[in-house]
This record gives sequence, C-alpha cells and structure tokens, in this order.
Amino acid sequence: MKQDIIIASDLEKSLTEAIERVSHDHLFVLTDTNTERYCWPLIKDFAIMQGARMITIAPTDEAKNISTLTKVWSALQEGGASRHSLMVNLGGGMVTDLGGFAASTFKRGMAYINIPTTLLAQVDASVGGKTGINFGGLKNEIGVFNCASSVILSSAFLRTLDKENLLSGYAEMLKHGLLSTKENWAELLCFDITNPNFDTLQMLVTKSVAIKEEIVNIDPTEKGIRKALNLGHTSGHALESLALEEGRTILHGYAVAWGLMMELYLSAKKCSFPAKEMHQLENFVKEHYGKFLYECKHYDTLYKYMTHDKKNENGNINFTLMGAIGDIRINQTATKDEIEEMLDYYREN
Ligand code: GLY
Repeated sequence: MKQDIIIASDLEKSLTEAIERVSHDHLFVLTDTNTERYCWPLIKDFAIMQGARMITIAPTDEAKNISTLTKVWSALQEGGASRHSLMVNLGGGMVTDLGGFAASTFKRGMAYINIPTTLLAQVDASVGGKTGINFGGLKNEIGVFNCASSVILSSAFLRTLDKENLLSGYAEMLKHGLLSTKENWAELLCFDITNPNFDTLQMLVTKSVAIKEEIVNIDPTEKGIRKALNLGHTSGHALESLALEEGRTILHGYAVAWGLMMELYLSAKKCSFPAKEMHQLENFVKEHYGKFLYECKHYDTLYKYMTHDKKNENGNINFTLMGAIGDIRINQTATKDEIEEMLDYYREN
C-alpha cells in the first residue's frame, strides 16, 4: 500500500512526473467549486493538464455523500473512463476522500493522484489510503483503504487558506508532534501558525507527514499502531457530533485540538503523562482555538457519542492515550466516571 509522497518545490515538474509514472488512457481532474476557482488556476496551464477532463462537485462535508459519488461515477462513464484512466483529486479532504473512493470503485478501480490543497488534507486526509463518503448520518461510514499512487504536497496551495483553516490542519500536526519526539513537539509550539513563514511550514509539514507515513506503513488497515493517529479523536468526534446536532459549525481540526486537551488530561490521570507538556498543549489550544462551550446537561449526549464511535471494540470506548511524548498507549478505555471527570476538567479550565 505504498504511495509516493512528493514535496513539490517545482509543482509542474512534480505533477508531470507523477502523471507520467502511471500509464493511462484518459486523465480526469476532480475539484470542488472552491478549488476550481482558487487552486485549479495554479495547474491548469501545465502542458500535462491539457486535455484533462474536469469533474466539479459541491464543496463541504455535506456533499460527501452517495449522490455526489453517483455524479462522479456518471461523469467518469460519460467521459469514457476505463480501468486504465487516471484521476487527479485537487482539493481538501472531502475531494480526496470521495475522489479516492470513486476512483477505487469505478470499474473495480483506476489509479488516482492526490493534490491536497488544505493543510488538514496535506498532513492527514490525503495520506494513508483512507477513502470514503458519509452515509446514514455517520461520517466516513462507507469506504475502502486504497492508496493514491502519488500525493503531491505544495505550499503554494497553503497560501490560499484563511487563518482558521491553517489552524485546523495544525491541530493534526500537534497530534503528530505528541506521537513523535520532544524536539518535534518543541518546534511546533514555537512556530507562529497565525502568521506563518511558508518555507518553514513546508518543512514542518514534511516532518508531520513522515510521522504519519511511518505509522501507516507498519499498519495500513488500522489493526494496531495506526490507532495512534486517533489521539484526540474519540472526544473530538463527540464534540463535532454535539456541534452538528446543535447547528454549531466547527472545523474538524478545532474539535481535534479540544479533544487533545481532554485526552491528555485522561493520559495524565491514567498513564502519568507529564503535567508540563499537558499544560503546554492546553495553553496553545486555549490561545489559538478558544473554547468549545458545553454544560453538565450535555454529558450524557457526549458520552453517548463516544459509545457509538466506530473505533470502539467489544463494547468499550477506545482511546489512544500517551504515557509521555512518543510513548503511545493504544486500546485504552475509561469508565463513565473518568470520562465525566475529563469533561469537568475541560469545562472548568
Ligand atoms: N486520520 C487518521 C488516519 O488516517 O488513520
């Protein structure tokens, strides 16, 4: 399940080489209406893109559904796609997830290349072969593991992002920092993501993706150590679900940042994670991501969402916790009392 991750200093050269590496009859490009407007102009004049057939879908997670998928399959059919065609997914995680799934299933699978255009997609969604759509009210319910042949990372796209979207991606980078080394963690805490130097950011993205890649290469289908990447996500997903239920819009990475704060508290309590680094994370999150407000009356709902998480096993809520930076403890569980204590801690701090 190996994929080529290319850090593009020359986007045209990298994309041309990636496309030429996959022999194909037709070339398709999947975008959403935002990336068609802001990101497609950065590559549309490249010689290799001439003659590519465009498929454009609606943006945002709400369109990551079976109806959009059907439209992509139809567009591939009408455009004469075969199993030997190639699709380039140009966009955020929604485009790379849905496009990866469309390509993986069309005529039992054609090759695809990801060009993630958001920081979140560069450091997480587009790397590691998770593809899919939302279904039956559940996120990423239907999908397959199937890697892109190449993932092309360019900071040119990051310059098109607003502060909130940069912060959203940065939360996944903080997670990778906690999973790796004290040096990487210190570097991330010092970097000014609200006023970024894009060369430094590209270097940090390269390190972040290498951390994820190392984990995914050991355990591509999440039977074991890939669960490390779920740090912050059991609580974060519960906050996202509560926000959705209440019509409050939050970005995924913000929920992960708040979820990291909660789960480092649980890590400190259950696995002796050091207070110093727990407070470093807390201060960073409070300063940059603000606070997700909830009350005691929401505890049962948050607990219910955690019990429905698709990562759970044998009826137990499954957390990834930490004993220290780099000391990963997968398959941890917690009692209802411990979870309520964690919810109290977040609410009061
Ligand atoms: N987003 C976590 C993973 O790819 O496993």
